[in-house]
Amino acid sequence: MMAAKGLHWKRLAAALITGLVVLIFAAGAGAQSGVTQAEVDALLAIKRGFQSPSILASWNESGAGVCTSWLGVDCLNGQVTGLSLPGKALRGVLAEDIGNLTSLRKLSLHHNFIAGSLPQSLGTLPALKGIALFLNQFSGSIPANLGNSSALAQLDVSYNLLTGPVPAGLTQSRRLTLVDFSVNRLWGVFPGDWAQSSSLVVIGLAANSLSGPLPDQWGAINASSLQRLDAKDNFFSGSIPRSLGARAALTELRLSNNQLDGAIPEELGQLAQLTVLDLAGNQLTGEVPAALGNLSVLAEADFSGNALSGAIPASLGATNFRCC
Ligand SMILES: *[C@@H]1O[C@H](CO)[C@@H](O)[C@H](O)[C@H]1NC(C)=O
Ligand SMILES: *[C@@H]1O[C@H](CO)[C@@H](O)[C@H](O)[C@H]1NC(C)=O
Ligand SMILES: *[C@@H]1O[C@H](CO)[C@@H](O)[C@H](O)[C@H]1NC(C)=O
Ligand SMILES: *[C@@H]1O[C@H](CO)[C@@H](O)[C@H](O)[C@H]1NC(C)=O
Ligand SMILES: *[C@@H]1O[C@H](CO)[C@@H](O)[C@H](O)[C@H]1NC(C)=O
Repeated sequence: MMAAKGLHWKRLAAALITGLVVLIFAAGAGAQSGVTQAEVDALLAIKRGFQSPSILASWNESGAGVCTSWLGVDCLNGQVTGLSLPGKALRGVLAEDIGNLTSLRKLSLHHNFIAGSLPQSLGTLPALKGIALFLNQFSGSIPANLGNSSALAQLDVSYNLLTGPVPAGLTQSRRLTLVDFSVNRLWGVFPGDWAQSSSLVVIGLAANSLSGPLPDQWGAINASSLQRLDAKDNFFSGSIPRSLGARAALTELRLSNNQLDGAIPEELGQLAQLTVLDLAGNQLTGEVPAALGNLSVLAEADFSGNALSGAIPASLGATNFRCC
């Protein structure tokens, strides 16, 4: 009786272990089988473009272990959803074949030395949410079709060598919250559609060669999304748009070192959250509006290098304050 019972338990244990092994194997195979040959081929083409074989040694030419052992490759349900290789001293170019990673959500290759153009195919990736390619050596223009990535939320290509205009229509991506094109060599105008975006939180255009007026439709929509607007170190001209006063969530407004003229609009006194107001190095005239004294959290204000007259409002108690 006892012997039979012992045998029964041994069989049960053996069956359980076998079942577990089968399960683990199936799970492993499942994760692997989801990755298509097109995705493997695309990744291997990207590897060849980078000319950095030692860093990507785990990207086995056999295509084995994409989701389990390839450096910087993230998968979800057996699909390649992320490529994340920041600060890996990558050189070479980013291959157009990246457009074949059709489930890609996040592309993070910042702090490298990647040169050549930004792939046109990025604009065709339907799930792409985040592009972090800042601090590289990309040149050429920003693909005009990026606004076609309807999921796109964050686009940071700052600190590169990009030229040409800021593409129109980026705000077709209704989820776009951050655009940072700072420190490139872009020319042309400030895209008017950005002023009417209800999703943008951060706009970075600093240190380019952009010119023309700043758009003046910031109040056309009921949007309090915008928190940071940095357009300093360009060639923008005309006056500071009054409608910026409608963007109540603004915390940082940097317009220094442009060619802006006219008076500082008193509407800026409505920006109750403003902590930084940098208007230095323009051709602004008139007085600093008394309404700016209303800005109780303003910590940094710079009006230096303008042609302002009159006294500074006594109520303007910015801790780091420079004037006229
Ligand atoms: C990526 O897709 C394009 C278009 O279908 C194709 O021509 C190209 O060969 C693919 N790339 C790779 C590496 O398979
Ligand atoms: C690549 O995969 C093959 C086959 O799975 C394996 O024999 C080889 O050791 C792998 N090479 C590297 C560098 O992981
Ligand atoms: C965006 O997609 C639409 C529809 O697929 C297409 O007609 C249009 O040409 C695309 N825009 C760009 C700039 O590629
Ligand atoms: C903004 O919101 C207010 C109050 O909700 C509304 O009365 C006004 O019409 C809206 N304006 C626009 C341009 O949508
Ligand atoms: C803003 O400042 C102006 C001028 O000092 C003043 O008349 C106005 O009442 C202030 N508004 C608020 C909301 O504090």
